[in-house]
Amino acid sequence: MKFISVFAIAVAFLSSQAQAHIAQPEAAELTQLRLIDRGDGSAPRWMPLGQALEYSQKSHGEGRCGGFMDLTGQKPLLESISPKVEYFRLSLEDRPLTQAEYLSSALPLIDMSRVRSTVEALSSNKNRYYKSTHGAKAASWIADQFKGMARNRADVTVELYKHSWEQPSVIATIAGQGPHKNEIVVIGGHLDSINQSGFGNREMVAPGADDNASGIATLMEVYQVILQSGFRPDRTLAFMGYAGEEVGLLGSQDIANAYRNTKKSVVAVMQLDMTGFPGAGNQVVFMTDNVSPELTKFSQKLMDTYVKVRWSTDRCGYACSDHASWTRAGYASVMPFEATMSTDNKAIHSTQDLISKLDFNHASAFARLGLSFMAELSK
Ligand code: BES
Ligand code: ZN
Repeated sequence: MKFISVFAIAVAFLSSQAQAHIAQPEAAELTQLRLIDRGDGSAPRWMPLGQALEYSQKSHGEGRCGGFMDLTGQKPLLESISPKVEYFRLSLEDRPLTQAEYLSSALPLIDMSRVRSTVEALSSNKNRYYKSTHGAKAASWIADQFKGMARNRADVTVELYKHSWEQPSVIATIAGQGPHKNEIVVIGGHLDSINQSGFGNREMVAPGADDNASGIATLMEVYQVILQSGFRPDRTLAFMGYAGEEVGLLGSQDIANAYRNTKKSVVAVMQLDMTGFPGAGNQVVFMTDNVSPELTKFSQKLMDTYVKVRWSTDRCGYACSDHASWTRAGYASVMPFEATMSTDNKAIHSTQDLISKLDFNHASAFARLGLSFMAELSK
């Protein structure tokens, strides 16, 4: 029995690998076996993609989430630095805050009308699905925006990070200067969207205004203000838009695992996934699972010092977004979220995830938190 099941897994694995580069009919995509980790403590299992997505969709309908990580094809992580990468860790416990002066002039530069325009532009794409031309186009648009904001800056690089599907991730970096320039501080969010009433359909309407044009627009504003204010970081600052989150954290896993396997010193990662829907009023909710408790505590201190908006905590209960990819790869991540799980935006993953449901004053707390995070940790 044991032999047979191992054999079946091997065949499934090899055939899914062999098919990975062939454009497939939509239905075949759903029956393809994938290695799925629900991130709830149970062991990863092989199942058809359709079954994993169905589970996730059903959970959302019931007012809870049921995410999963698609581990298919991911190389094993380097054992030598598993499970913790201590030397990547910043000591955060009694780290003093040093950027009050910079932030007192930079925080007022945050302009939420720009954030609104970005959400408008992103959500006017038919969708940003990871296997559609619309999704690939949206990634290029984000890269062009990053480039446009950094004209005349030789310390800025913008990269389209290619994967095995159409949509690339986008990474913009502002190079650090001095002895800490090889240490990286990341702020990221996923740039893809999905309409869960029709998995795999490249032409379904999925505006994804909250999920997650809001997070992308918020981190683009942080980038804009950092450049506009002439800030020069000691550590390298990376702004990431991940592809393929909605189908199992695919883009962020590719990136986090590649960084881990090349021993990149990522010292902190903030995930912005949904920043505009004030389901539980104007407060920031820190997810406490699949994150670093130290970095979360540090971010709460930033809330009290610079953002001055109420915060609380909740749990996703599973690997609900890209922070989990970084955590799994051994890095410290934090996930500030727009609402509690029970009060979150029920319109996500549908045609109704529209900008009209968003409150940009609410989102501004995340922009302030993101800017404080990047400025403080870059020094
Ligand atoms: N933005 C959501 C995550 C989310 C939704 C967190 C609601 C908290 C409340 C994300 O884009 C998403 O949809 N994640 C999937 C899991 C993913 C691994 C397929 C989910 O929650 O089902
Ligand atoms: Zn989603």
